[in-house]
Amino acid sequence: MPSPSERLFFQRRFPLRLAWPVSVLLLFAFVTAATSQDSKPKEAEGPGFENLRVLPSDISQQDLMDIMRFDFVGGLGVRCSHCHVGEEGQSLSQYDLASDDKPAKRKAREMLRMVEAINGVHLAGLDDRAEPAVRVSCETCHRGQTQPRMIQEVIHHTVIQDGVEAGVERFRELREEYYGSHTFDFGRTALTAFARTLIAEQRRAEAIRILELNIELYPDYWYTYRMLFELVMEENPERARRELERAIGLAPEGSVAWLRRSLEEFLAGSE
Ligand code: HEC
Ligand code: HEC
Repeated sequence: MPSPSERLFFQRRFPLRLAWPVSVLLLFAFVTAATSQDSKPKEAEGPGFENLRVLPSDISQQDLMDIMRFDFVGGLGVRCSHCHVGEEGQSLSQYDLASDDKPAKRKAREMLRMVEAINGVHLAGLDDRAEPAVRVSCETCHRGQTQPRMIQEVIHHTVIQDGVEAGVERFRELREEYYGSHTFDFGRTALTAFARTLIAEQRRAEAIRILELNIELYPDYWYTYRMLFELVMEENPERARRELERAIGLAPEGSVAWLRRSLEEFLAGSE
């Protein structure tokens, strides 16, 4: 029994097309894109589906529903009604599944074309590919969210708009909701990476606050203290020394010598 993702149409369909040279494929993709105006009605389709423009018209009910449920609903973390015209709680038979009125459905169709091109043209054209072949699916990027963003990007937006405390609050909410899922990485380096972005933007006070949050969550991660040391060095040498000493106490052996040197230089400089 193949797993649902192995049944994805773009995985079964491409071996056929791949017998064609890439130039033909590209031409085909171009012509398809140019002629498939989403507003144009289409001739009769396979087993009862009225408006398939990317998925094969003879796709079985089972395969289509697997894609809708596992790749689309699961991959994006939404319900059918995110893309299809219909109300939550209504029976599916009352939905207008063929309608293209919702922008999300039209975007999803474009995404299908994109994923086809990635798997069928770009990846397929690589020499010496990994075995078994790695395939891109909706979930590769989306990981259970509609806008595939990293946690840092989500928080960054909040910090810029509403300030660092709002960003901290948003981070806590998202962590509460998504911790343990594949949607966001809440590992110990997520916030140090974010702090680096803030430092590059000259938002030092915000960076300090974010590193303090990381210490609350990962008090044993030495590198956070090392970053703090550098940030507070000028205005608070006393604190800087404490942070660096903490880093030294927690760092793995390989990094201790380097940190000790920083401490010696710092102490020599502040005399
Ligand atoms: C992320 C958006 C998205 C979600 C969520 C989604 N669909 Fe779809 N659905 C599409 C797109 C896009 C098509 C058209 C594909 C094409 O043009 O080849 C489609 C087509 C269909 C069709 C064929 C309609 C026809 O007659 O042409 C059915 C049936 C369907 N979806 C059912 C569902 C069900 C049931 C769910 C919930 C379990 C669902 N879909 C969730 C985007 C979505
Ligand atoms: C290579 C990464 C990538 C893959 C793979 C991918 N997407 Fe997307 N998707 C994006 C990005 C980036 C956006 C945001 C586009 C924007 O609005 O600027 C997006 C946006 C969307 C949206 C609109 C967001 C919303 O609020 O509804 C839908 C729907 C969507 N994708 C569906 C899909 C489906 C279905 C698949 C699989 C067939 C898929 N995507 C595969 C990157 C990807």
